[in-house]
Amino acid sequence: MYDAPGQDGRWTVIDNIGTLVTNDPEAGDGPLGLIHDAAVVMGDGLVQWVGPRSRIPEGSAGSRYDLRGRAALPGFVDSHAHLVFGGERAEEFAARMTGAPYGAGGIRTTIAATRAASDAELGANVARLVAESLHSGTTTIETKSGYGQSVPDELRSLEVAAAHTAETTLLAAHVTPPEFAGRSDDYVQMVIDEMIPKCAPHARWIDVFCEEGAFDADQSRAVLEAGIAAGLTPRVHGNQLSYGAGVQLAVELNAASVDHVTYTTDADVAALAASDTVATLLPGADFSTRNKYPDARALLDAGATVALAADCNPGTCYTTSIPFCIALAVREMHMSPDEAVWAATAGGAAALQRTDIGHIRVGARADLIALDAPSHLHLAYRPGVALVREVWKDGYRR
Ligand code: NIG
Ligand code: FE
Repeated sequence: MYDAPGQDGRWTVIDNIGTLVTNDPEAGDGPLGLIHDAAVVMGDGLVQWVGPRSRIPEGSAGSRYDLRGRAALPGFVDSHAHLVFGGERAEEFAARMTGAPYGAGGIRTTIAATRAASDAELGANVARLVAESLHSGTTTIETKSGYGQSVPDELRSLEVAAAHTAETTLLAAHVTPPEFAGRSDDYVQMVIDEMIPKCAPHARWIDVFCEEGAFDADQSRAVLEAGIAAGLTPRVHGNQLSYGAGVQLAVELNAASVDHVTYTTDADVAALAASDTVATLLPGADFSTRNKYPDARALLDAGATVALAADCNPGTCYTTSIPFCIALAVREMHMSPDEAVWAATAGGAAALQRTDIGHIRVGARADLIALDAPSHLHLAYRPGVALVREVWKDGYRR
């Protein structure tokens, strides 16, 4: 950390921004609220002023960063990650790339490795991945449990996650663990009777994997309803590997988000468009499993709210890079570069039901990134290039 913004009336000024994405249509051009030749003043961890640099308020002294015409935008909001795990599955990935199919059963490999890991090992893994994601511009990251699938292992997963983010999710029903093999209803009952009561105080969200090979609609509904009764807000992994009930269940329960959304019917798209549930697309997972990509155009054209997230996990998608996901969304899912940048910032904030992040407006968290490029369009235009040059989180340069 370098700055101590706001403490003694000294502000941090980010000046000479070539193109600033505010995500505030009232502040600038188009849906991204673009301001050219912009400046942002930060203090006390918040955005204090934003506008054309010719109008920076008097007395905005303090640290000044001259971006020399580079682009700036809100920090990425990665609303879907599984960072608490032991081991890795590079061999499984290699086998998949030479023809083996992906199945939810691979999750059990990571359950075994996670149960065998110490708290310190799990914590070091989360710290490493949070640092990696920050480096590529992610200033808010959600993270899930889900590789414990026992009360003590889910509990410690959430405790480890909570040391790094307030956005913690109890992924109580990810896959039936080996000791419940052939008895998934018994596992669901244990989740409802024991796991949720013990773990709910350590989480903000409840999540399930509603998919063939994982949990069916009735099991998923039972887990989510128990989570809601314990004060958690639902989100759903659904329609990742096949058509299924996940999207409709998420809408029925007014979930914050349904994630993956790769196999959708017209009815699924219509239901999402008519709901407040965000469709969170995870193209990195589809890339690394050689899946088809979600029909982002159908969702956007119908009026659904779309978020993009990285889904970092050791099985289906071992990347923390939101710029990579933006490039995939544009090239493979026909999102415009503007739509993809919105989905990875304001869309992620919507999926986490947060109004303080995902935009650059007075009073927002001072989470801002600068690119080594003149505009946000370069995120998709220059795939694979590390364009994120500076990151400010809570007004601090990281
Ligand atoms: O989001 N879909 C379920 N869960 C993870 C993958 C888990 C794994 O394979 O380890 C996902 O893709
Ligand atoms: Fe996931």
